[in-house]
Amino acid sequence: MMKAILFLFWIFLTHVAITLAADPVTKEIQRGFSAKHDDSYSQFQPLLTDPTGVFSLGFLRIDSNFLDLAVLHLPSSFPLWRAIPANPAPWTGTISLSFDGTLVLSDQKKSTVFWSAPSDSTGDRVLLLNSSNLQIQKTGNPASVLWQSFDFPSNTIVENQNFTSYAKLLSTNQQFSMSLGHNYFALYIEFGKGSNSAIYYKHTALQAKAQIVEGKGPTYARIGSEGFLGMYQKEGPPADVLSFDTFNRRYQVFYRMTLGDDGNLKAYYWNNSAWMLDYTAITEPCDLPSTCGSYSICRSQEQPQCTCLDNGTNGCLPMGNGNFCMASGDKENANGAGYGVLTRQGVDLANKDLVDFTTMGSLEECHSTCEKNCTCWGAIYSNTTGKCYMMDYPIEMVIEGDESKFGYFKLRSVEDGDEKKESKDDKVKVALLVIGCGILAAAGGFVAYRIWERRGRGGGMGGSMEDGLAPGPYKDLAAASFKSIELSDSFRKP
Ligand SMILES: *[C@@H]1O[C@H](CO)[C@@H](O)[C@H](O)[C@H]1NC(C)=O
Ligand SMILES: *[C@@H]1O[C@H](CO)[C@@H](O)[C@H](O)[C@H]1NC(C)=O
Ligand SMILES: *[C@@H]1O[C@H](CO)[C@@H](O)[C@H](O)[C@H]1NC(C)=O
Ligand SMILES: *[C@@H]1O[C@H](CO)[C@@H](O)[C@H](O)[C@H]1NC(C)=O
Ligand SMILES: *[C@@H]1O[C@H](CO)[C@@H](O)[C@H](O)[C@H]1NC(C)=O
Ligand SMILES: *[C@@H]1O[C@H](CO)[C@@H](O)[C@H](O)[C@H]1NC(C)=O
Repeated sequence: MMKAILFLFWIFLTHVAITLAADPVTKEIQRGFSAKHDDSYSQFQPLLTDPTGVFSLGFLRIDSNFLDLAVLHLPSSFPLWRAIPANPAPWTGTISLSFDGTLVLSDQKKSTVFWSAPSDSTGDRVLLLNSSNLQIQKTGNPASVLWQSFDFPSNTIVENQNFTSYAKLLSTNQQFSMSLGHNYFALYIEFGKGSNSAIYYKHTALQAKAQIVEGKGPTYARIGSEGFLGMYQKEGPPADVLSFDTFNRRYQVFYRMTLGDDGNLKAYYWNNSAWMLDYTAITEPCDLPSTCGSYSICRSQEQPQCTCLDNGTNGCLPMGNGNFCMASGDKENANGAGYGVLTRQGVDLANKDLVDFTTMGSLEECHSTCEKNCTCWGAIYSNTTGKCYMMDYPIEMVIEGDESKFGYFKLRSVEDGDEKKESKDDKVKVALLVIGCGILAAAGGFVAYRIWERRGRGGGMGGSMEDGLAPGPYKDLAAASFKSIELSDSFRKP
């Protein structure tokens, strides 16, 4: 009898223990779901898990003061997807995630929407698949997918995720991006609204086993379980195989590729206790824009050496502010104010094989063409080839070159000490600039629109679009107003 009681007691105990240990987190979110942020979870509050328990959707703490909705790889706590990396919500504050046909991250009164899945409101359930893909589905036979996180990557793609030309990877600091062209993928430096991006790495498909035919559908890239990044236009043999170190070694591992805050693209696999580096896109330090940063010269040595273009005392930041339109029209600038010019012999571009050039007869022609062009920030001329490379973005990727290369750089003329002061004059200049540089503004608007669209139409940025400065730790250049770009030193420092 005693034994039986003890046995029942044991059953009871283990049952309680199992119940307590069992993950209370749901595997399926249904209409009417709402979960409040509970700040007793210090780093991550899980809300939904995948069937294998490896991945979880939940509230992730960012830089102690902020919160984002994220899909985490639980064993490593690595966020594979984030909803609003550029503009995370405040950690304090009453945030909730709700599902009434579409997912909404908002404050509890829903007066501020931080993010919502850009799908219509007809979803029946939300699932996290064993691939880490978060899906809003409409039940039926078969169920249709209304929205999936795989189509909106942040800085990472994982095995079996299709990365298409509609998507873009953005490093968490928002300074670098990766996107697909029709037969290549490339990495870019992002300057935010009002500026073009600068390409610094390009991988073109070899097309050995399959051709990419323009007009025959979009290209997409995908990490294969054999350890490679493939480029495809249709299923079947890939048009390109970018092999990782473990390629074809039949490792049964989970792969990811991440665009880091240093601008490098790397692949890793999970070895059950750590992420192992398996591929690095850029191995030469001076080919990486973060090595020295803007307005500096990178010298390739055992240890890369960085010097400033200008011997300025405030780092390498006599910032160009895009105010160069003034050169042609404005009287003040015709007199030489507005920006200064720096010329240097023996400088080259690390990315010159990727940027456009025009062949010109002389150094003077190259430099004066840049001078007259309001979207030109600088130019490099090679007097051996006659090629004139013009930069339509702030000066980046400058390296030491031979004596036949001549650089011409527009620099913002900095009045001692008050470079950050916001004068009325500056505002007028900005206004003139916006009118004068219609192309620039339109391009910026287009970029902003695409970013807005990518983040979810009307997804609600909590009014921060209008405020100009993003509240987050990551300065959101794309959403920031032109003024804040000019007046803040949001650009990278070396
Ligand atoms: C993931 O789910 C699919 C079907 O939904 C299944 O075929 C596959 O084996 C699963 N993979 C893992 C690792 O559980
Ligand atoms: C990736 O694209 C292929 C081809 O269009 C498709 O068959 C497959 O279902 C897609 N995978 C995902 C996860 O969307
Ligand atoms: C995974 O990598 C770590 C770090 O290199 C190593 O210590 C560990 O032994 C590896 N684990 C397995 C299972 O290979
Ligand atoms: C920078 O300073 C060094 C040493 O003071 C000098 O040799 C060099 O010519 C300067 N360069 C420029 C561009 O002024
Ligand atoms: C100005 O330079 C940009 C590239 O820097 C070029 O695309 C544009 O056509 C040029 N504009 C004029 C008027 O030459
Ligand atoms: C290029 O410029 C250098 C320095 O001014 C000069 O010595 C050289 O003759 C020039 N080369 C050509 C082909 O013009």
